[in-house]
Amino acid sequence: MAELVLADVTKRFGPVTAVRDLSLTVADGEFVVLLGPTGAGKTTTLRLVSGLERADGGKISIAGIDVTKLEPAARDVAMVFQQFSLYPHYTVYDNLAFPLRSPLRRLPEPQVEERVRQVAALLRIGPKLQNKATHLSGGEMQRVAIGRALVREPAAFLMDEPLSSLDAKLRADLRVEMKRIQLDLGATILYVTHDQVEAMTMADRIGVLREGELVQIGTPRQIYAEPDSLYVANRLGSPQINVLPVGSLGIMDGPAGAATIGVRPEDVVLGAGGVAARILTVEPLGAETVILLEVSGSQVHALAGPGPALRPHDNSTVRVIPGSTLFFDREGRRLPWAARNERSDRSELRHGT
Ligand SMILES: Nc1ncnc2c1ncn2[C@@H]1O[C@H](COP(=O)(O)OP(=O)(O)OP(=O)(O)O)[C@@H](O)[C@H]1O
Ligand SMILES: [Mg+2]
Repeated sequence: MAELVLADVTKRFGPVTAVRDLSLTVADGEFVVLLGPTGAGKTTTLRLVSGLERADGGKISIAGIDVTKLEPAARDVAMVFQQFSLYPHYTVYDNLAFPLRSPLRRLPEPQVEERVRQVAALLRIGPKLQNKATHLSGGEMQRVAIGRALVREPAAFLMDEPLSSLDAKLRADLRVEMKRIQLDLGATILYVTHDQVEAMTMADRIGVLREGELVQIGTPRQIYAEPDSLYVANRLGSPQINVLPVGSLGIMDGPAGAATIGVRPEDVVLGAGGVAARILTVEPLGAETVILLEVSGSQVHALAGPGPALRPHDNSTVRVIPGSTLFFDREGRRLPWAARNERSDRSELRHGT
């Protein structure tokens, strides 16, 4: 496996700049997830690295070699596409064996078989090896597509929302599998998704894309707790961060120039004093409960434990865990605020509820 470096990479399609001055290093063995809404430039970024698109500017290197002008076949990366891309008339076995039988490799057949069986076992598609690719469920097809990238042991993997077409249970299983496989192989992976759970659970670092620009990159924890902007703050968290006019929820201090505050639902504490709130809806999710409140005319989400016997129309109070509030200016940029150091109060307050 190898390091992957993009330096000031730009790609235009006519008037649209799909990727703008993008600089990013995926370290050897690192799992980087690019997160962004539809049209943000995720697929284009992967296609630039794989060589399926040519950059209009900038440089791309893999394992220290400048590949910017190389053909896809010369780049030693394997891509898993957003849509299934299997050979429909081949069996699963032959789909998996295909990359190993290419004229470039010509692996002896016993070795091909060994490798195919290994990867099939890893992805739990062993029993389906003799099926035609079209005689599979969507989830099985996508696992074969991932398997076809895995058999090759390339310098890096590029994965374009490989789990997006699967049902929730299979997606959750494969998330764990993918992470395990990545750790086992020490694989370098650039993975693209608009699913925040995938990003949070699999990434060593998350890069957030906005209209072709990489607006922030950091560990999942950094992106979640220290977003540079409202845009980034809104990408992670379910329910989303509460965004309210400055002065809401009884938060009176804050930096000069603050226009809005951001408060994560888990930092909203019910029934421990503070300002008056009315409960609108209660969604018990098992381990936790999502509560929608009305506070001074604004709607606010709170996350509580499994227990509280709350009902719609009940009156309560809310307060915000000291130091947890994020402040943003009129343009949605985060403003630093020293009071965030008070986060140590947090666990104390939590236990009090
Ligand atoms: N071949 C193309 N020709 C013209 N415009 C394109 C082409 N490919 C992508 N674009 C444009 O570039 C921008 C980025 O597209 P891209 O496919 O990279 O987005 P994405 O983040 O992968 O979105 P999604 O989540 O929907 O897959 C979009 O505005 C898109 O319309
Ligand atoms: Mg895409």
